[in-house]
Amino acid sequence: MARTDNESSDYDLIVSLVHERSRIRLHDGKQALIRARLGKRMRALGFATFHEYCQHLRAGADEQERIRVVDALTTNFTSFLREQDHFEFLVQKALPSILPTRPGPFRIWSAACATGEEPYTMAFYLADWFPPAAGWDWQILATDISTRALETAAAGIYPESRLTAVPKEWQRRYFQMGRGDWAGQYRIKQSISQRVEFRGLNLLDHQPFTHSFEVIFCRNVMIYFDRATQSQLLRQLRAHLLPKGFLFTGHSESLNGMSSALRCLQPSIYQST
Ligand SMILES: C[S@@+](CC[C@H](N)C(=O)[O-])C[C@H]1O[C@@H](n2cnc3c(N)ncnc32)[C@H](O)[C@@H]1O
Repeated sequence: MARTDNESSDYDLIVSLVHERSRIRLHDGKQALIRARLGKRMRALGFATFHEYCQHLRAGADEQERIRVVDALTTNFTSFLREQDHFEFLVQKALPSILPTRPGPFRIWSAACATGEEPYTMAFYLADWFPPAAGWDWQILATDISTRALETAAAGIYPESRLTAVPKEWQRRYFQMGRGDWAGQYRIKQSISQRVEFRGLNLLDHQPFTHSFEVIFCRNVMIYFDRATQSQLLRQLRAHLLPKGFLFTGHSESLNGMSSALRCLQPSIYQST
């Protein structure tokens, strides 16, 4: 069915708002997704049509609502132990190759952490391989542009269905099982959550860190950016890596030819030179 002029310019408005803030390009064919994700907001605010809602956004006064639009449309898919080989490489090869043998502090950044499964998975591995009780003092900084995703991440409560990939032993050791009204919900234990700090951050903004990281995970987000934005982001990530530090990208994200300052060890795993 042909779209009216209003509809076209409404979708264009949303597409350019999301692109301007996140560099995610919602291609043609995403209209149904846009309607589904924004429909609930539209109704909650009492707008009868999508066009009215867009007129409200166009007026520009409601910055919170514009943030919500970006939130609703940036895909937050993630899972515990996603691309598991990265975590194994992290604890078995990467960290042992750069950390001193005497236990001490180190830092990891989970850039684009979504609802928290990635940084918590890191923390489970680190707790086993670099136990704080032995003197290892690691911290994970986990950031994302989506405030909605970060709320879930910081709460650290997940339904049982999200834990299928988590070994039973880790479920017992690192989660508290809900009872009564909370039955079927699992909460990350404090021994883990106290080592993960969540913060809102747009990867395309200046990154205000005063320190560098031994390891950065920036997985399954660059795929949404155009090549020029990817290059710019890579320069920033590299600037926040310690010498010999490691960068992990998503399995389907290749940085081939994009940075001479990062050596490719295997697809999706890079080391700063
Ligand atoms: C598909 S999830 C990836 C989650 C996790 N890294 C993983 O691999 O499972 C992509 C995340 O990138 C975030 N994101 C998109 N654009 C961003 C930006 N410009 N700055 C920071 N985060 C962004 C989204 O909010 C979403 O949570």
